[in-house]
Amino acid sequence: MISSVLEEKRRFKPTKQFLAGSQGPNEKALELIRKKAARNPEAFWKAQAQNLVWKKAPKKVLSGKAPHNTWFADGRINAAFNCIDVHLTTHRRNKAAIIWEGEPGDIRTITYLQLSIEVNRFAHALTKTLGVGKGDVVGIYMGMVPEAVIAMLACARIGATHNVVFGGFSGDSLRDRLNDSKAKVLITQDGVHRKGVATPLKAAIDSSLKEVPSLRHVVVLERTQQDAKMKMGRDVFWDQLVKGMDTHHEAEGFPSEHPLFILYTSGSTGKPKGILHTTGGYLTQAKYSANIVFDFQDRDLFFCTADIGWITGHTYVTYGPLLCGASIFLYEGAPTYPEADRFWRMIERHRITIFYTAPTAIRTFMRLGDEFPNRWDLNSLRLLGSVGEPINPEAWMWYSRTIGHERCPIVDTWWQTETGAILISPIPSATTLKPGTATRPLPGMDIDVVDKSGKSCKPNVGGLLVIKKPWPGMLRTIYGDEKRYIGAYWSEFPGSKKQAPFYFTGDGARKDKDGYFWIMGRVDDVVNISGHRLGTAEVESSLVAHPSVAEAAVVARPDEIKGSALVAFVVLRADVKPEYVAALPEILRAFVAKQIGPIAKPDEVRITGGLPKTRSGKIMRRLLREIVTSGVTTGDVTTLEDMTVLAALRQDDE
Ligand code: PRX
Repeated sequence: MISSVLEEKRRFKPTKQFLAGSQGPNEKALELIRKKAARNPEAFWKAQAQNLVWKKAPKKVLSGKAPHNTWFADGRINAAFNCIDVHLTTHRRNKAAIIWEGEPGDIRTITYLQLSIEVNRFAHALTKTLGVGKGDVVGIYMGMVPEAVIAMLACARIGATHNVVFGGFSGDSLRDRLNDSKAKVLITQDGVHRKGVATPLKAAIDSSLKEVPSLRHVVVLERTQQDAKMKMGRDVFWDQLVKGMDTHHEAEGFPSEHPLFILYTSGSTGKPKGILHTTGGYLTQAKYSANIVFDFQDRDLFFCTADIGWITGHTYVTYGPLLCGASIFLYEGAPTYPEADRFWRMIERHRITIFYTAPTAIRTFMRLGDEFPNRWDLNSLRLLGSVGEPINPEAWMWYSRTIGHERCPIVDTWWQTETGAILISPIPSATTLKPGTATRPLPGMDIDVVDKSGKSCKPNVGGLLVIKKPWPGMLRTIYGDEKRYIGAYWSEFPGSKKQAPFYFTGDGARKDKDGYFWIMGRVDDVVNISGHRLGTAEVESSLVAHPSVAEAAVVARPDEIKGSALVAFVVLRADVKPEYVAALPEILRAFVAKQIGPIAKPDEVRITGGLPKTRSGKIMRRLLREIVTSGVTTGDVTTLEDMTVLAALRQDDE
């Protein structure tokens, strides 16, 4: 079904330099952990949960039937307490929790004690002044500033469920996500620094916020001192809000299954899915995975380049590292500002030791040239990571050589918004690496590649990536849409009386003879553009909202830098004036960027007379994909309603 062309022969064992500074397991020890975990996964996860501090220790481990499992259900826990307070009685009290660099070059260091003070004040402000209570949803729409992390942790501390929306999304996208989650409060900023420009954030969303009836208050952090129009009674500045608030705050233990956050992600329909994660299981998996994959030592400074608007920003900017008592490095701005060496300059300046980014960024830097990283001393680095999309071996080798100086292992980590945490990854102290594979599932996980009937595929035969046993960090549902939750993840392999259902990831993969997983990308209408997940249906529904468009179909074609690029086929309404047509592709690209956000902007818009459809009227996107990828169509076209459409589309291509 899915074929692969490449056999990778290169192997990389953990380097001596890495092993000298690591406390991770060696290969033999890892195999023992793996076997023990596979023999009794529940005992394994129970032991991991014991690495957290519970207000009430759970007796239960896994309960319920998939897909409605619960974890540690009778336990009570506070997420912020585990990220902060547990460190205050240790040598980490005055250790940096966050080292932050703003785009203009300003630097702030926030120790665990200072973080505790800021989070506590904000937690009091949320409850006392804004009336936020347990279970209320709080939207967060911010740039990469320490207050974004503080806001998340303050919500967690008081049992409010945060809903972080990526600051690059449009006001309308924000509005939809706030409405779907019925958010009561929004935390935002006056503006953000990006590529040398202070861009307004609050002013850009004001009109959209009028259409969020559940919203009672908007908290505005002043970052760029831009004019933010404040609505009396609703809007309040962050500094005013926290003034005089108590710096002590008693953390309450919430049930393990209390909702910690909702994070919207793209699916194969036009409407984003609100992925719901709960507390005890998520924290267990976040701490376990962060520790074993990133090998945190107290002297480390960890730079995860993800924005907090994505799951990576939740689990490996905020929760995972802070649970482990690590120091995180945050950067506010663009990687190419003021020059393309910004990341490398910051690695030297702050002596960053672990660097975790996306293949798109790696490919971009590769193309920009070695001159930029070579300007700076990268010898502080000891471990590199990759996430979000398959990393091609060429980019892997460049990353290893030019950034890691052949000294740093690379952890290629596979996971999803839904999985909550890394599930497939090398363990840097143990795993022999092959460029281009995320290697093997972490101990405790039961993951496989199966055919359509659910049978395991033979080595090197492509199939569907599934998770066979529940895991603590799994999503619990799609917020407000239980039916879609079952449909999207649990109906492909619904199981039987004897066999529990499998979780379907939506990814294609193959396993090689060593049991290493090679992820081959999505098999549904979800695409990965620059490591950002996007549903083609979302872009289609934006396009058809334009008055000139009758129909639209969006597909991805491979792109050297971004992984995939979007091509939109558009059929115009009959009344569109001919002289207007030439300008439409640009107009439509800008329209989508404004409606959803710049990441959704199609790379190419092709105006066409018709779309290939089946007799029942379904657009045959497979054919469009073939046209944009290879220019030819293969396979079955017998269901195609009108063959002339296909001929015309191919002609358009020439
Ligand atoms: O297709 C896989 C790809 O990203 C998808 C998940 O996207 P999202 O929920 O936005 O989370 C991204 C960050 C965890 C997956 O279904 N993906 C993620 N990591 C990898 C990957 N593909 C290949 N290799 C990876 N390491």
